[in-house]
Amino acid sequence: MSHHLEPLPPSGQPVLTLDHVAVALGGRPVLRDVDARIGPGEFVGLIGSNGAGKTTLLRLILGLLRADGGRIEVLGRPLRHGRGNRAIGYVPQKQSIDPDTPLRGRDLVALGIDGERWGIPLPRKDRRARVDEALRAVGALAYADAPVGRLSGGEQQRLLIAQALLTNPRLLLLDEPLSNLDPRGAGEVVRLVARLGRERDIAVLLVAHDMNPLVGVMDRVLYLADGRSAIGPVDEVVTGDVLSRLYGYPVDVLNVRGRVLVVAGGAVLSGAGGQGQEAAAPARA
Ligand SMILES: Nc1ncnc2c1ncn2[C@@H]1O[C@H](COP(=O)(O)OP(=O)(O)OP(=O)(O)O)[C@@H](O)[C@H]1O
Ligand SMILES: [Mg+2]
Repeated sequence: MSHHLEPLPPSGQPVLTLDHVAVALGGRPVLRDVDARIGPGEFVGLIGSNGAGKTTLLRLILGLLRADGGRIEVLGRPLRHGRGNRAIGYVPQKQSIDPDTPLRGRDLVALGIDGERWGIPLPRKDRRARVDEALRAVGALAYADAPVGRLSGGEQQRLLIAQALLTNPRLLLLDEPLSNLDPRGAGEVVRLVARLGRERDIAVLLVAHDMNPLVGVMDRVLYLADGRSAIGPVDEVVTGDVLSRLYGYPVDVLNVRGRVLVVAGGAVLSGAGGQGQEAAAPARA
């Protein structure tokens, strides 16, 4: 029986197709069989323990790494390795911004234009309009001219999301955007991303250790463990049966005061509060 519960997105051509994706790094298989199809505007949470391969999967989708097996398609086209893809917006994991960085919020966002490796440079007026539009979309106009290093984690996260929106992507990849935020800040970012996805028809793949801030907002969960994946609605994937099969050993799913906890042998694998870093199952190699 397959652990892939619901490989099909709601309708239409998938924005992202992962077909039996496998990759080894440093001689060790990190991903062995990852399968998912994500539809337009769909919000998917990518959940897994430390070292499960979440960042690796994003790097594969971005064409920064080459898969050893399987197939990856973005908007029905195979990847072009080593080339940027304007259809994808990316907010990488953990960017700590020096408090003395001499950049204003809007300068940080504008890097999303300057970072493009091709294209005709935009006139200054058009650049400003695009940056303003992205700042407005994430609700960051009020602090657009403040030094970024002085802004809160949540404010910085909004700016990074604005930066990723500048190419008008169809797919937005966010690597642990909630990791430095308190529960309220995390909830706000999750709702912001969900709204942007809905309004702009952007498919979202958001990485988190702790799925709890996403429950009730995300459409489906893509759970990674032991190099394999399960995708589907939370209540179908996050069960003792499905996850035990995925991890390859018995795990339990507990509901504690409205929070979902995935536990094995007394250790919390997913669902611990705050940053969830302490919830690591197998340590990094
Ligand atoms: N370039 C590399 N060479 C060798 N091993 C690597 C390389 N990059 C990542 N790995 C290993 O691959 C595994 C998956 O790493 P990855 O960063 O994708 O995990 P993750 O799920 O994003 O973890 P975290 O939640 O801690 O961010 C880890 O064991 C890591 O040590
Ligand atoms: Mg990671």
